[in-house]
Amino acid sequence: MKPLVILLAAAAAFGADPPAREKLPTSRADLENGEKLYQANCGLCHGTKGDGGRGAVLAGRKLSRAADDAALVKVIEEGVRGTEMPGAWQLSARESRQVAAFVRSLSRVSSKPVPGDPSRGAELYARNHCSACHTIRGLGGSAGPDLSDTGLRRNPAFLRTSLTDPEAELPRSYQLVSIRSNSGSTITGARLSEDSFSIQVGDSSGKVHSFWKHEISELKKERGKSAMPSYKQLSSADLDDLVAYLSSLKEAS
Ligand code: HEC
Ligand code: HEC
Repeated sequence: MKPLVILLAAAAAFGADPPAREKLPTSRADLENGEKLYQANCGLCHGTKGDGGRGAVLAGRKLSRAADDAALVKVIEEGVRGTEMPGAWQLSARESRQVAAFVRSLSRVSSKPVPGDPSRGAELYARNHCSACHTIRGLGGSAGPDLSDTGLRRNPAFLRTSLTDPEAELPRSYQLVSIRSNSGSTITGARLSEDSFSIQVGDSSGKVHSFWKHEISELKKERGKSAMPSYKQLSSADLDDLVAYLSSLKEAS
């Protein structure tokens, strides 16, 4: 009986403790190693200077998912479920903390201002009917990703490439598919979701079509193709303005 009591008492004492404060290492050697690990494991998505890309911008802003250092270590070790952010299972506990320390040092560096005029960009966004496929703050279509906080996730270079060369960087979740139904009609658009029995496709007008698999005579996945049209015909100044507008969209989800 006695060991159990001690165990319970220990558990109660442990539970009553305030959560341990995370202390990130601060020595120069730790930061240097943190930077090396960052460039090898994170830079590809977050940019060598934390200026974002496939991953969120980490430089010069408050991290919404990592308000304190304990949360930051947790994001690094476990990733963000349901997003492209993977958990860094390959790093030791000490290494994750060195990377975290480096990430904190990045967020103190201010990122470069974006050229272009965001309010003109907003007009161009409306004039080019981007909202047929994209939602911003609850308004618009769903054939493409929600852009409400794209300024937090994507750096200006990524955004510009998305506009001029959408096929360069394809989030896997939006695949262009072509569907021929049993009745003979054909729909082409972005695959929004799919399971064994049904598939949902958003077309270029922003309308969502849902099919049962048994109603489909042909389902073609257009590999490497994007449902996002290219806007390379826009002038460089127009692209700057659109990118400035998109970069200004920072609503936390
Ligand atoms: C495959 C690409 C990819 C890799 C590799 C990656 N990340 Fe991420 N990371 C993302 C994405 C995408 C997000 C945004 C998740 C979301 O939607 O909130 C993110 C989010 C984060 C956040 C939260 C940002 C915020 O706003 O709070 C931190 C911190 C972070 N990553 C750090 C790292 C570190 C450190 C590494 C390396 C150990 C790393 N990431 C590796 C893609 C990646
Ligand atoms: C016909 C639908 C459609 C229209 C119109 C459209 N897009 Fe897209 N957009 C998409 C899809 C689908 C994606 C997802 C990426 C892919 O499949 O290549 C995307 C991706 C993007 C991305 C990258 C988002 C990310 O985080 O990966 C940006 C930025 C973007 N679009 C902005 C715009 C702007 C600005 C306009 C108007 C000038 C526009 N789009 C018009 C369908 C559209």
